[in-house]
Amino acid sequence: MSALQLGDKAPNFDAQTSEGKINFYDYLGDSWGILFSHPADYTPVCTTELGTVAKYKDEFEKRNVKVMALSVDGLESHKGWIEDINETQNTQVNFPIIADEDKKVSDLYGMIHPKADDTATVRSVYVIGPDKTIKLMITYPASTGRNFDELLRVIDSLQLTAYKKVATPANWKHGEEVVISPSLSNEEADKLFPKGYKEVRPYLRLTPQPE
Ligand code: BEZ
Repeated sequence: MSALQLGDKAPNFDAQTSEGKINFYDYLGDSWGILFSHPADYTPVCTTELGTVAKYKDEFEKRNVKVMALSVDGLESHKGWIEDINETQNTQVNFPIIADEDKKVSDLYGMIHPKADDTATVRSVYVIGPDKTIKLMITYPASTGRNFDELLRVIDSLQLTAYKKVATPANWKHGEEVVISPSLSNEEADKLFPKGYKEVRPYLRLTPQPE
């Protein structure tokens, strides 16, 4: 199968997880989703990552995002490791972890990069919209833990730009100025952005973040 790209439908699947058998689309419902893989259970970076995601529960809920993790280790391994994560990271893992021993889901999403590692999944992240299309893909090497604040930031941008004719500039954070979509004329921008805008260049118009 060719590699997934932005805008592709996120493949659906049934999988054994630490919270029982789950159909991915049923789990997501109408929510946004994050599917992320990690190389292996009982490894230090992954332990901090899953603990961090558990602690961000409220942030994900605020944004209507459901999270699911994956590694190619088995269910018994996941269960023991979850106890370790809870204890060492002072949290409670509150999302399912897929036990992808047959690599069905990893292969579907291209999470194994043989030149990095023949068997273990790399640190892939997929953000999936309520329409089940892929909105963001990021791949990190095993040696680098992910920045989950960056993921929240991108989700804020995706959710804003899905509904308003704006885009978000470099290093943008929720609440900061945004740029007006270049496809809008100034007349249209006047109507859509009553707070006004600064025209730095005809193609670069900044406006306060719309409500
Ligand atoms: C880790 O999660 O700590 C890790 C996993 C695989 C390779 C290196 C580090």
